[in-house]
Amino acid sequence: MTSLLLDHIGLLVTADPSAGDGPVGTLSDAALVVNDGKVAWIGPRASAPDADHWVDAAGGCVLPGFVDSHSHIVFGGGRSAEFAARMAGQRYTAGGIRTTVAATRAAPDADLEARARALADEALAQGTTALEIKSGYGLSVADEARCLRVAGGLTSETTYLGAHIVPPEYSERPDDYVALVAGEMLDACAPHARWADVFCERGAFDSDQARAILVAARDRGLGLRVHANQLGPGPGVRLAAELGAASADHCTYLSDGDVAALADSGTVATLLPGAEFSTRSPYPDARRLLDAGATVALATDCNPGTSFTSSMPFMIALAVREMRMTCEEAVLAATAGGAAALRREDVGRLGVGTRADAVVLAAPSYVHLAYRPGVPLVRAVLRGGEVVAGRYHRTP
Ligand code: NIG
Ligand code: FE
Repeated sequence: MTSLLLDHIGLLVTADPSAGDGPVGTLSDAALVVNDGKVAWIGPRASAPDADHWVDAAGGCVLPGFVDSHSHIVFGGGRSAEFAARMAGQRYTAGGIRTTVAATRAAPDADLEARARALADEALAQGTTALEIKSGYGLSVADEARCLRVAGGLTSETTYLGAHIVPPEYSERPDDYVALVAGEMLDACAPHARWADVFCERGAFDSDQARAILVAARDRGLGLRVHANQLGPGPGVRLAAELGAASADHCTYLSDGDVAALADSGTVATLLPGAEFSTRSPYPDARRLLDAGATVALATDCNPGTSFTSSMPFMIALAVREMRMTCEEAVLAATAGGAAALRREDVGRLGVGTRADAVVLAAPSYVHLAYRPGVPLVRAVLRGGEVVAGRYHRTP
């Protein structure tokens, strides 16, 4: 069992208000000791114990690794032309998903794996140490199971999204597709998935269809998540709250009743501002959710159609600039909020016993994540106590 001392931390963000100062629980001039992949000690650097290895944070800010609780990184092909057309004035429709379904079905396993791994590595280099990955571009029994196997090679947070859209071969008989998703496809996918998700939206699945699929998945022991109220008002958020889903994702068009349902149920409101950025849509109103007492998470929604970015720092910058979140609220939503959306206690904050997942910034404060948008501020990343990415000073 080797230990590691992360030393010379100018500002440590614990993401636990009870463990330090202010809303993100900060400690100044701090150090952190890792033992066996977990945080074993946090305190003033002057009284830090010795360890086998030493990593120098060089006076920078250290935060918990980001928890990206919503991504779709297993796919074939790309949709840059669709993005360019949107920027030239065309509207986004969920139908673009079909383009990626065709490319994903045609892609060999090795290509799907290599591309998904490259995106997961890209996210890690930007500080994402816990990542949820969905299927949803296979939409056949074999292709959904294949996509989930690929996702499972990269994370334990795998989500079955057979109900992304109705694939073209079922367009005349959508209820047969719902039966497949809730039946044979679920049987094939459940062993590879922790979660099930449904895109409950006009043009995708309605409330009754979504409920049937979610209840079947819950009966198979999967946790629930819902793509809800992204493109317009709808029943998705209420359904997520009613079924006790861990998270309702997007939450762009909410009624007062939807906001109250999220606050009362404990279903996390996961906001995905990369999608609004990339579809040139209005951003969700985070302030309204926070003021009502809902738990808010920020995630990338990394996918080739609506948000082709893996950058959690970019989500923080958008949330602060465009969604009326304070810097502190955005940092909490990208760490502890994401952990809540995945019902995880071991990640998303730094305290004795948590997994030693940390981001070392080449900046004195977490504020710089929004204050210096687009700048690669991540100096190093630790996951499970191992330095897994970045530039850092280390002596044995
Ligand atoms: O989260 N909302 C549904 N699914 C994706 C979009 C996927 C696509 O256009 O390929 C999303 O935004
Ligand atoms: Fe999504």
